[in-house]
Amino acid sequence: MKKIIIINGPNLNLLGIRETSIYGKQSFNDYLNELKVSHSSVEIDSYQSNIEGELIDKLQEVGFTYDGIILNAAAYTHTSVGIADAIAAIQSPVIEVHISNIYKREEIRHTSLISKNVDGVICGFGLKSYKLALEALI
Ligand code: DQA
Repeated sequence: MKKIIIINGPNLNLLGIRETSIYGKQSFNDYLNELKVSHSSVEIDSYQSNIEGELIDKLQEVGFTYDGIILNAAAYTHTSVGIADAIAAIQSPVIEVHISNIYKREEIRHTSLISKNVDGVICGFGLKSYKLALEALI
């Protein structure tokens, strides 16, 4: 069975509560349970942290054994050379995901420091962005 992990960065623990007009009203756990049911042929793990170094630790931990990583680095997308370097250092394919269309938003969100190191980018489809990334990896 393929092993995929979804790694979520800062503030994504508040999905369903946080800025619902942008990120929607569904909690991530609720959405994840739906994904696990609809894609039961793969093992889907998940991890969330608000701390940059913990996200880097997790990428290093899973990045040599998992069949794919779906990464929403959230605000660190726009700032973190450390996360970009971690992606370059590991072997598992990484899909960068964003719930919102970052190119339709403030200019600071138009730059991703991680895109050049990932295998693909999906953004702007709401929580469905994770499902599209999962299907791309499968
Ligand atoms: C986000 C977009 C980022 O700009 C923002 O900082 C987030 C979430 C998204 O999923 O749309 O926290 O990555």
